[in-house]
Amino acid sequence: METSSFDSVLVIDYGAQYAQLIARRVRECKVFSEILPHDVSIEEIRKRRPRGLILSGGPASVYAPGAPAVNPAFFDLGIPVLGICYGLQGMAQALGGEVAHTGTREYGKTELHVTQPSSVLFESLPEDQTVWMSHGDVVTRAPDGFQVTASSEASPVAAFEDRERGLYGVQFHPEVAHTPRGLDLLKNFLYEAADARPSWTRVSIIEEAIKDIRERVGSEQIICGLSGGVDSAVAAVLVHKAVGDQLTCVFVDHGLLRADEPEQVEETFRRLFNINLIHVKAQDRFLAKLAGVTDPETKRRAIGEEFIRVFEEVARTELAGARFLVQGTLYPDIIESGTRDAAKIKSHHNVGGLPEDMDFELIEPLRNLFKDEVRAIGEELGLPDEIVWRQPFPGPGLAIRVIGDVTAEKLHILRQADAIVLDEVRKADLTRTLWQSFAILPDVRTVGVMGDERSYAHPVVVRAVTSEDAMTADWARLPYELLEKIASRIVAEVPGVNRVAYDITSKPPATIEWE
Ligand code: XMP
Repeated sequence: METSSFDSVLVIDYGAQYAQLIARRVRECKVFSEILPHDVSIEEIRKRRPRGLILSGGPASVYAPGAPAVNPAFFDLGIPVLGICYGLQGMAQALGGEVAHTGTREYGKTELHVTQPSSVLFESLPEDQTVWMSHGDVVTRAPDGFQVTASSEASPVAAFEDRERGLYGVQFHPEVAHTPRGLDLLKNFLYEAADARPSWTRVSIIEEAIKDIRERVGSEQIICGLSGGVDSAVAAVLVHKAVGDQLTCVFVDHGLLRADEPEQVEETFRRLFNINLIHVKAQDRFLAKLAGVTDPETKRRAIGEEFIRVFEEVARTELAGARFLVQGTLYPDIIESGTRDAAKIKSHHNVGGLPEDMDFELIEPLRNLFKDEVRAIGEELGLPDEIVWRQPFPGPGLAIRVIGDVTAEKLHILRQADAIVLDEVRKADLTRTLWQSFAILPDVRTVGVMGDERSYAHPVVVRAVTSEDAMTADWARLPYELLEKIASRIVAEVPGVNRVAYDITSKPPATIEWE
């Protein structure tokens, strides 16, 4: 997506943990924000014509061996700069101030006193407020030309500014929720100091993307692989809005989807949006490839390969002449793969694992967006809630949640149990709170007793986790009543299951999926 018509403020990354959150907050203020590595060149920055820079927090000490240095040339760009925590200290150090190890750490909620109420950053904010601190070093002397604007018990220079040069710094973290007025402070920086317009809105993002897609593709044909997930769905609808019937979507149903998923995809795309859709029903082909395969990696490879074969066949027979391929790549995929090398996107992030050696040019209309922005845009485009708020689902689908070899019978059992988990979670209004909730079918049988009959049948494992980004996850403390309801319904309604267990491990040490 072309973003040059949006005012932007760039985040310079001194420690990945903080940079993403800052960029998200800036975008919440409707100003576009991108994250760049701390050693980014000045030309790269100039090319983007930002209204301002924010230097993120980072490692504990500017004196630590290998601590990333702050490039002093950032301060000569002629645009406002805000340093946060490590960013403030790096700024102080680069401009001739003093940073010291005082031995007192400030961590957590801290009382801040504004000493210069006329300061740009603290405009309209209370003189005394709570902020979130996390640092060992402190700035003991601001650089020449700077005014100290706030202090706390352990930080004599908790904020400073040189209004003339447009340089600002805060020791605390305005981007975290524990700093209640943090967002207002960021707004002061964005709107007052950097004079950025709040133009990054759902409607303008969509308009801009449509304009960009039209310019790129002209009258050429485009194809898009649908996975049933939110990213490829939003990408497809966006492209369709831009070029209508030039787009054809291909949905390969590998028979490993959740209950009702193929029908929902068909309904949404064909009937609701009237999009050209090729629905390839390839269940038998995939089952044949999976027969007798028990090793999870072998399963994944078999599915990935078969997917490519099916997709290639369709492209050859029905879509010859398409020049562009739509992918639902998101901004975190780009950041994860190293901001400078977008080609290294993890293979499981490619929609449905589409072939790499195909002769298509890529259209990635979501490559600047975070997941929640994609969902907001999906809503704006009129996609139904079942698609917009669907929980993440692995490309190889239920095949990796059937432990051991995959058969039609086991898939049928798992699909029914999974539908009950999702149904009860939805009724408890927890779908959006949970990162994922699903069922797993382990490759064991145990004894049970039902009526007067002894049974020897499968257990089902229920997994529900909360997470921000799937890198770490916590098992969800679901109410006992909900777990009881899920367990009794599964055993009563799904033949072949006589027991239900709940997975109470976090990630790490476990992973979210079983496999
Ligand atoms: P794990 O099990 O590694 O999973 O904790 C982390 C997240 O990634 C999802 N996942 C996948 N997503 N294709 C995908 O699109 C895949 O092959 C795949 N494998 C795992 C998983 O559901 C969880 O959200």
